[in-house]
Amino acid sequence: MSIPFISDRQVAELLDFRTVAAALGEAFSSLASGGAAVHRRQRTDCRDLRLSTMGAVWAERGVAGVKVYPTVRGQFSFSILLFDLETNRPLAVLDGNEITRLRTAAITVLVASKAGPVRPRKLAVFGAGLQGRAQAEALSDWFDFEEIALVDPAGDRAWAQALTNKSGCSAAFTTPQAAVTGADIVVTATRSVTPVFDGAWLKDDAFVAAMGTSSPKGRELDDSTMDRASRIILEWQPQSLAEAGEVVLWEGRTSRSPFVDLPQLFAGDAPWRTAGPAITVFKSVGLGLADVVVAQLAVSRNMERDAVLERALP
Ligand SMILES: NC(=O)c1ccc[n+]([C@@H]2O[C@H](COP(=O)([O-])OP(=O)(O)OC[C@H]3O[C@@H](n4cnc5c(N)ncnc54)[C@H](O)[C@@H]3O)[C@@H](O)[C@H]2O)c1
Repeated sequence: MSIPFISDRQVAELLDFRTVAAALGEAFSSLASGGAAVHRRQRTDCRDLRLSTMGAVWAERGVAGVKVYPTVRGQFSFSILLFDLETNRPLAVLDGNEITRLRTAAITVLVASKAGPVRPRKLAVFGAGLQGRAQAEALSDWFDFEEIALVDPAGDRAWAQALTNKSGCSAAFTTPQAAVTGADIVVTATRSVTPVFDGAWLKDDAFVAAMGTSSPKGRELDDSTMDRASRIILEWQPQSLAEAGEVVLWEGRTSRSPFVDLPQLFAGDAPWRTAGPAITVFKSVGLGLADVVVAQLAVSRNMERDAVLERALP
């Protein structure tokens, strides 16, 4: 029997940011209660080439899987293999590029909606590449912004205009300082390995999501941002503390450790919001559980669609 294949194009037809954010919430709740488990990313380097794998078991849903991707000339190519744990057979092979795009933007929506400002008015996004555009689109779909400030020296003006038309609020490219000043939510999704703005510019109650590099040698946020944060939310400390350059390179780390991770928050061991105005940082490096969850969602949506089509046949 051949293993079903689901392409990036099919994933895009089957899923949207909101559905993915809801599924991620369920999966992190499972991780918090022991119904899911995840392993740290494995990386193998040879010359200037790299292979990375990240995986998880979601026992509560009877699936396990792994995302695997080479890095060639700085570019990724993601594939996911999902297993059915009842039959102990492969369930599907999926392209992983669209899943990665959706789940990375959806996790920002999920965390920002629970830990960020209640009524954010201004969004700032650094990086308008694949991930940055997805971040801006997902957040503007969820929140009712008045302004979206974009920063990217290579930014596409036509895309910013399309975002303005779709979101109903003004989206325009500007300077780093103008973008961060007054922003309620600041997202960084660049390939930069050096800080992209000065943390002194942040509002006292800003929510900052750093979604870029997962290398301990690079960071998008500076020490000022980290020093000013009343807390720093991570996906899962065993991986994040090793991979996140924002944490590893932060000088203040030795004197303060305001870290909390998503399993703790979903378990109710810490509140999502702190009392009074405070800067919250969410640093994401990507977690295999998110890929497995979204792959499972795509497979079940695909099966539902096939069943509907089959019933419609004469
Ligand atoms: N957290 C996660 O789970 C996750 C998942 C996938 C990708 N990523 C990371 O997201 C980052 C972006 O990936 P991508 O595929 O969108 O890359 P991309 O190359 O498509 O886009 C990056 C954009 O950042 C811009 N940029 C570079 N330096 C900048 C700066 N200082 N200020 C503003 N913009 C700047 C570039 O001009 C480019 O348009 C990468 O570091 C990647 O590793 C994270």
